[in-house]
Amino acid sequence: MTQQNWRKSVVYQIYPKSFYSPEGNATGSIKGVTAKLDYLAELGIEYIWMTPVYKSPQNDNGYDVSDYYAIDPSYGTMDDLDELIREAEARGIGLMMDIVVNHSSTEHEWFQKSLAGDERYRDYYIWRDEPTNWESKFGGNAWKYDEKSGQYFLHLFDETQADLNWENEQMREDVYEMMRFWREKGIKGFRLDVINLISKQQDFPEDDSDGRKFYTDGPRIHEFLKEMNEEVFEGHDVITVGEMSSTTLDHCVRYSNPDEKELSMTFSFHHLKVDYPNGEKFVAAPFDFVQLKDIMSTWQEGMHGKGWNAIFWCNHDQPRVVSRFGNDTDHRVESAKMLATVLHGLQGTPYIYQGEEIGMTNPGFDSLDEYRDIETLNIYKLKREQGVSHEDMMAAIKQKSRDNSRTPMQWDATPHAGFTSGTPWINVAPNYTDVNVETALDDPNSVFYHYKNLISLRKELDVLTDGDYTLLTPDALDVWAYTRKTDEEEVLVVANFYGPETTYEIPEGFTRADVVSHNYDVPQLDGTTLSLRAYEAIMFYKK
Ligand code: GLC
Repeated sequence: MTQQNWRKSVVYQIYPKSFYSPEGNATGSIKGVTAKLDYLAELGIEYIWMTPVYKSPQNDNGYDVSDYYAIDPSYGTMDDLDELIREAEARGIGLMMDIVVNHSSTEHEWFQKSLAGDERYRDYYIWRDEPTNWESKFGGNAWKYDEKSGQYFLHLFDETQADLNWENEQMREDVYEMMRFWREKGIKGFRLDVINLISKQQDFPEDDSDGRKFYTDGPRIHEFLKEMNEEVFEGHDVITVGEMSSTTLDHCVRYSNPDEKELSMTFSFHHLKVDYPNGEKFVAAPFDFVQLKDIMSTWQEGMHGKGWNAIFWCNHDQPRVVSRFGNDTDHRVESAKMLATVLHGLQGTPYIYQGEEIGMTNPGFDSLDEYRDIETLNIYKLKREQGVSHEDMMAAIKQKSRDNSRTPMQWDATPHAGFTSGTPWINVAPNYTDVNVETALDDPNSVFYHYKNLISLRKELDVLTDGDYTLLTPDALDVWAYTRKTDEEEVLVVANFYGPETTYEIPEGFTRADVVSHNYDVPQLDGTTLSLRAYEAIMFYKK
């Protein structure tokens, strides 16, 4: 794909563990992805980002890699992966691999050698005589003591995910070599896990907070990414996206500006913290709509003409958007379509997470036994020790747990939603008999066909790629309206984010004939006065 073309593409994210198991196993497989390629081609996406399938003890579902060159047997074999690459390519779909190199599993050979004091590998990880007070993202202190050497190693995530030492040139060279191996296999994209955390401030100070300021967008990060680009991506037909944890707009402009030669685009997460009161995730809370618009609009304006956003509502670390910012009880279909319209009208590359395109919801699990995620289980234990009640924690987990998006993909109304004929590793959401792919494909008004239309609009309308963004309703408590404009074309998106009807005065010049996407039959437009029903969203387009 040429430099220009990829910007019109849409990426579909697959969490293979929960996608499809044709073998009838508890967990999905690579063959399960290959088996569903026709479905994805029908949707119209051009890339699949598949979360890690490398050999791993699976403490963090594959984000704890023990061998970067091998496929975990639970997912299949290298032949299965080669087949997936070939079959995807035959349908015009490129495969994007997830590269996890801020840390490796402590079972990785490098770490085992490091632990044993091997001369070459000791320095591949971050060892210190004294710990700092930095906190792990999954709760607790970020340093783990090793009795044998009397030193501590850093783990920003679980204690089985040891941070790699990017100051070590040989380690970096080994990482690039591994990435070239995947590129040569025919991988068309790289998603780089928490990549803006790889450069740590080398004096390792104590913090009055959790320590993130000393390793987020750290001192050598741009240098490392430029080096990676030169060593792996430059001159090849690949796209790259960096997952940027707690980053800033200025850094993301630099990461994704073509002149900087670092990455194609960046994920940022500020818009998905609008339901974290005082920055705290594990507290049940409503979301702040005005803040949501403000953050996304700031990034739209700030990246325009300089960088490139990866735009998304959902991934395997986030609750389902229809349960989060929509209404998954009375208006599931309308609100799922509304959210899709608002997102796909923005500038950037849209990422659709498996099941989002049929409006899958949080499962609503009430019992801790139904949760599997290491973050959820760690935080539950920690907060209970700190005196938070079981009820408060369960309310928070039900709303915020990463498992909300990790339940099996709902293919049909047969037992376990057609995900497997065996017993799934995590329960299926109870609404699978209504919400599933088979039902969606049979219904021309389904969420699926709404997404399909939005994906094809991105290819047809250049303004969706190139147009600048203006927020028309910064203060409105229910409506998000914006325009996208080039000299030749203009798009107007108007969305009611809530149930009660409301009205909005649209800019002059748009008529019913200009509607290109809508989640109700006929717009209630009287002159320039638009009456919006529950979760109604309309996209207008004119030349
Ligand atoms: C990223 C992944 C998440 C994982 C973490 C540590 O945030 O998306 O699933 O737990 O990095 O690798």
